[in-house]
Order: sequence, then C-alpha cells, then structure tokens
Amino acid sequence: MPRGLANRMERLSPSATMEVRRRAEELRRQGVEVIDLGPGEPDFPAPEPVRGAAKRAAARGYAPYGPAAGLPELREAIAARYREDHGAAYSREEVLVCAGAKHALFTLALALFAGGDEVLIPTPYWVTYPEVVKLCGAAPITVPTYPEDGFHLRAEALAERISPRTKALILNSPCNPTGALLSPGELEGIVSLAQEHDFYVIFDEAYELIVYERGPFSAAPFKCENVIVVGSLSKSHAMPGWRIGWILGPRSAIRAVTAVQSHSITHPCSVSQRAAFAALTEARDAAAPMVAEYRARRDLVVASLNRIPGVRCPTPEGAFYAFPDVSAFLGGDSVALARYLLEEVHVAVVPGRAFGRDGHLRLSFSRSREELAAGLARLKEALEVLGGSHA
Ligand SMILES: Cc1ncc(COP(=O)(O)O)c(C=O)c1O
Repeated sequence: MPRGLANRMERLSPSATMEVRRRAEELRRQGVEVIDLGPGEPDFPAPEPVRGAAKRAAARGYAPYGPAAGLPELREAIAARYREDHGAAYSREEVLVCAGAKHALFTLALALFAGGDEVLIPTPYWVTYPEVVKLCGAAPITVPTYPEDGFHLRAEALAERISPRTKALILNSPCNPTGALLSPGELEGIVSLAQEHDFYVIFDEAYELIVYERGPFSAAPFKCENVIVVGSLSKSHAMPGWRIGWILGPRSAIRAVTAVQSHSITHPCSVSQRAAFAALTEARDAAAPMVAEYRARRDLVVASLNRIPGVRCPTPEGAFYAFPDVSAFLGGDSVALARYLLEEVHVAVVPGRAFGRDGHLRLSFSRSREELAAGLARLKEALEVLGGSHA
C-alpha cells in the first residue's frame, strides 16, 4: 500500500495562472467562444533564424548529450550579450544554461535554500516565487509594494523584513504582474543592503527587453558575490516552448547550480540550445517589432480600462500585462470577479490574489488588438452590470 505524497506537497499551491487556462479550455471544448486575456506568452512566432537553426540541427540527426552547464558557445554568446548590451564583464564560467527562467529559479532554490532560511519576495509577485521557496523548506517573507509608488520597492519596507535568516531576495523587473521597472538607483540601494546583510539578490529579468519608457535595464552591471541574474528567451524572442533560460552569477553559485542540473535534467534540449545560439547571434533585434506592437496594445488597454467607472489602471513600464485596481467590485474579491467575468462574458483574466494582491486583475496584452478590443468591450459591459461601490 503506497504511503502517500511527500509532506512538502502540503505546502505547494497549484499555479493559479494555469487554473484559468484550464477552465478557459474547458469552456472552449463546450463550444463557448472565450477571449483569453490570461496567458503569459508572446503571440508572435519565433524568429526565422531560430527555426532554421533548429531545423538544420534536427535534420542532421544532432542529438548528443552535452555539458551540464550548456553548450560552451551558447554560454559564451550569453556572456557576450551582457558585455555588449550592459557593459557587464561575465565570462562563460559564470553562466549556466537552463530550461527557461522558471527552471533557473527552481535550480537556484534547490542549490541555495533550505529549512530555516527566509527569502524576501515583494508583492505582487510572480506566482512561482513563493512556491519554489516553500518546496525547498524555506519561508517566503513578503514585502508589500504600493500602487502610489508605481509598485516600486521601498528600501525601508525591505530593510524592515531583513533578519539573520534572510538568504535571498527575489526581484522581478519589469514585473509580472505590475509592469514596474526598477531604476539603476533603486537597484543600487538594494544591492548595498544585500552586501551589508549578506544575502543574494536574485534578479529575474525574463522581460528585460519588453520595456516602454526607458531602455532595457539589467542587474548584470552590479556584478558581485551577492547578485544573481536570471534571463530567458521566452519573451524577448517569442520562444517559450523552446525552454531556454540562464543564470549569471558568482562562480561558487554557478558550480552549485550546475551540479544540481547535472542530476536533474542533465542540460536543456540540445536542439533548443542550437536555436538559442541563433537567437543570440542572428536575431539580436527580434524584440523591437514586438515591443512596438505591445506598446500600441498597452496604450489601448490602459485607456479602455480607465474609461470603465470604478477601474483604475496605472500604465505599465514594461512586460505585457495591465494590473488594474478593481477593488470597487464584489468587495475587492478578485477570485470571485475573475470567475464572474469568465462565466458571464467569457473573458479569462487572472485574479490579483494569485499574485498576493487582491482587488486587482491581471490582463495580458499578448493578444491581437481585435481580441483586446472585443475582450475589453465585454469586460466593460460586465462591470457596468455589476456596478461598483464607487457608484
Ligand atoms: C516573471 C517571470 N519569470 C519567469 C518566467 C518563466 O519564463 P521561462 O519561460 O523562461 O521559464 C515567467 C513566465 O511567465 C515570468 O513571468
């Protein structure tokens, strides 16, 4: 008789973003026309050089095991990109290639966190952060951020939560779900705190190149023993399913994550690594046209949301999500509101509670302008029927 699941499973919450997708698909299978503003993946094809490189590799039967840390030329290309884009001097030995940024975070968590450790996580947070911390037996410690600050992290709020057990801070900029983009000055203050109190800053830059107000910003130039950078091709090159991301960090941390990876996935798919090499060497500017389109959609979405009585939507500085305040509806219960919108007008959005912030919804604008316009019209209608406490 099997004796059941590991205790750690009691601490794990299923991904709320996946739950929305599941229900939306269920409705679709029943023939309902759902407008899905839930997903976190680009609606663009992967660049041509990426597809060509993969096709050529697959056609010649390229299928070897490779080094656990990733193909040397790919590690070198990643390091070169940070040197060229940000003037950050990383060598190949300070780079690990993983199966996406999510896998990078999971591998880092396994290598760095254990029972008794505390990991600081600003709210609203990307859903995976607290879960990977809990899976490793460590405790997530949330640090609130506020709409009036554009959801930027206040150094005092962070300082208040640092303890002798603090092992790391997981930061995400541009932020999913708020779109907040940290400034170099803000990061400098945070890195100083990390050095003073001896913890890691894990900087998740999955949306690094999806920015609207300023140029791309990376933590890589803040290179020191405390800073770990996580990057990905999923958003910048519209390659989510190819599963390629990376970790940049001090050699001691890279050695540790390489050891973990060597006993888990061995290394990311060899063909994907070839495709990633092409992305970084032949499709360097792939993000620019996508960003131009996202910007137009962002402006459309934010303007439409702000025209709905009771809704307040700040303008995201990066990523491709709007995170409006809808606390005037249903007493701010974002889960009930998301359910209402899906069931009544068949628009899928993600409740803010999934990101640790009730009273908000996350709407993805990685959707065509037509779909967005139709979805927003339905949303407006449904919220007007519902009426908010503002009325
Ligand atoms: C903040 C953030 N980090 C990491 C990821 C995961 O990216 P990847 O596809 O590289 O695993 C996502 C994906 O939605 C994300 O939003």
